[in-house]
Amino acid sequence: MKGVILAGGLGTRLIPLTKVTNKHLLPVYDQPMITYPIRTLVNAGIEDVLLVTGGNSVGDFVRLLGNGREYGLRWLSYAYQEGAGGIADALRLAREYAEGDKIIVMLGDNIIEGNIRAAAEDFANRESGARIFLKEVENPREYGVAVCDGDKVVHIEEKPEHPRSNLAVIGIYMYDAKVFEIIDSLEPSRRGELEITDVNNVYIDRGEMTYEILQGWWGDSGECIDALYRVSALVAETGANKMSL
Ligand code: G1P
Repeated sequence: MKGVILAGGLGTRLIPLTKVTNKHLLPVYDQPMITYPIRTLVNAGIEDVLLVTGGNSVGDFVRLLGNGREYGLRWLSYAYQEGAGGIADALRLAREYAEGDKIIVMLGDNIIEGNIRAAAEDFANRESGARIFLKEVENPREYGVAVCDGDKVVHIEEKPEHPRSNLAVIGIYMYDAKVFEIIDSLEPSRRGELEITDVNNVYIDRGEMTYEILQGWWGDSGECIDALYRVSALVAETGANKMSL
């Protein structure tokens, strides 16, 4: 299974820090943000990663990461996203790279404490479908939120005003090759973007979505300035991407 890290966007929620650089190059405690999801994937056994980026400072990613070997990757590829069409639009650029195989997709600002290797290996052995991770949060309105019926996820609502649970869908997704056809069928949302939540809802409606609750802490370090500092403090206190919990 190959990995895809999405690190585009304009980082408007972190202005003025993102006025001259890409959000994913900002420091989280003692490392650039983008290095955390790379380690998450490496720890999960992924050796080949496509980094999708755009906007400001794309050349700085190459300067920082090079061919990825320093971070434990066998191969690091790059793709350039024009404009800010949303997460699902960025993922579309991975179609040829995926070569019909399953992929694990990670948002470049998501940082976790633990290791998702067991989930990745389990998914790699499945024939098809998708998998998401859920995490209980205090501020579900900022995220995609699971709507549950008993212990089943029946729908996901993107940043709902009145969340129907406190289970956020975190930015790590596993998909089979059908994900690209699903993206082709999407319509832009109210904010003019192709939403990853709409992709996930197609898998749910088809009965092809599995999920699990993420163990250890999770932070969306690009959510706002406070989140950036909160996640930095978590990394400083406990460390990220530990091999076991
Ligand atoms: C995105 C997704 C959202 C998810 C979040 C996790 O939101 O749209 O469903 O819960 O990432 O970090 P964004 O933070 O890009 O607005």
